[in-house]
Amino acid sequence: MIEKLHQYKEELEKASAKTSEEIELLRVRFLGQKGVLKELFGVFKTVPNEHKKEFGKQLNELKNLAQEKINQLKTSTSTIEDAHGAAEDLTLPGNFKELGSRHPISLVRQEIIDIFAGIGFSISEGPEVEDDWHNFTALNFPEEHPARDMQDTFFVENKSGDEDLVLRTHTSSVQVRIMEGGKPPIRTISPGKVFRNEAISARSHCIFHQIEGLYIDKAVSFADLMQTLQYFASEFFGPNAKIRMRPSYFPFTEPSAEVDVWWGLESESDYKITKGTGWLEIMGCGMVDPNVLTNCGIDPNEYSGYAFGMGIERIAMNRYGIDDIRMFFENDIRFLRQFKSAF
Ligand code: PHE
Repeated sequence: MIEKLHQYKEELEKASAKTSEEIELLRVRFLGQKGVLKELFGVFKTVPNEHKKEFGKQLNELKNLAQEKINQLKTSTSTIEDAHGAAEDLTLPGNFKELGSRHPISLVRQEIIDIFAGIGFSISEGPEVEDDWHNFTALNFPEEHPARDMQDTFFVENKSGDEDLVLRTHTSSVQVRIMEGGKPPIRTISPGKVFRNEAISARSHCIFHQIEGLYIDKAVSFADLMQTLQYFASEFFGPNAKIRMRPSYFPFTEPSAEVDVWWGLESESDYKITKGTGWLEIMGCGMVDPNVLTNCGIDPNEYSGYAFGMGIERIAMNRYGIDDIRMFFENDIRFLRQFKSAF
């Protein structure tokens, strides 16, 4: 019997199985229900007592050997099969995580911010739901004055009822908050979303973005304003950028102007966008009205300042040659994916 055990041991030691099927066959032969070990344990019962100790020892050794051998074969073939076999097809395409891109409005806003930050402007923000005081009254829009109609306002239902709330129609509301909250010199830009109850077309939308600029100090003049905007235009549009200023009216600036940038008149859509003039209006500006300074607690005899407010969409349209403002809000991935940038 001992002889037989030795033969089995030898067989196991030599056994080589390359696939999981072959290993399974080996396992069944030695450790299965009708396998070698089962049979030998049956024989063990009939072995005379004086040999039981020796036979039992050999038998256990054989059992351990069988188990070890099978485990060892399993680990080595599974690594081989993982690398070469059917378990994983390494020629399949990987799982790609598509990288997003920044929205063109964010890109242009950042570029504008960087230009003004470079000449000492800080960045400030205010609320989108604004009260009547900050959006209109403090900015010198008298009660019931038709100037309020210049900006078609979305009114917000105010449950507490003590003041009128609106979706801000311009970022000029932030000017008021800054002047109320701080002492000159003030030099800040305020980017943000604004809302107007306007019909949506290729040129205008009911939601858009502005960047407000405000500079208050002693002896600030209109020449400072022109110089700053000229600088901005050549930084943003390039040294050959053409801009022009047209006299205009805003209740909160005096004098006031509108700034146009040369868009061109080459294609049919240029005519459409510029209403046939070739010029595209990108901002309003002017010297802060003394009434506004007074409303915000700043002495107009001591300080003066300028303000400007520009529409980011118009500028982004110019930058990227987009002829329909609605593209910015449609979230069409084919449109958005064109604006890759280094984060
Ligand atoms: N708030 C004005 C608008 O939205 C723009 C503006 C800002 C004009 C600051 C003058 C000064 O049309």
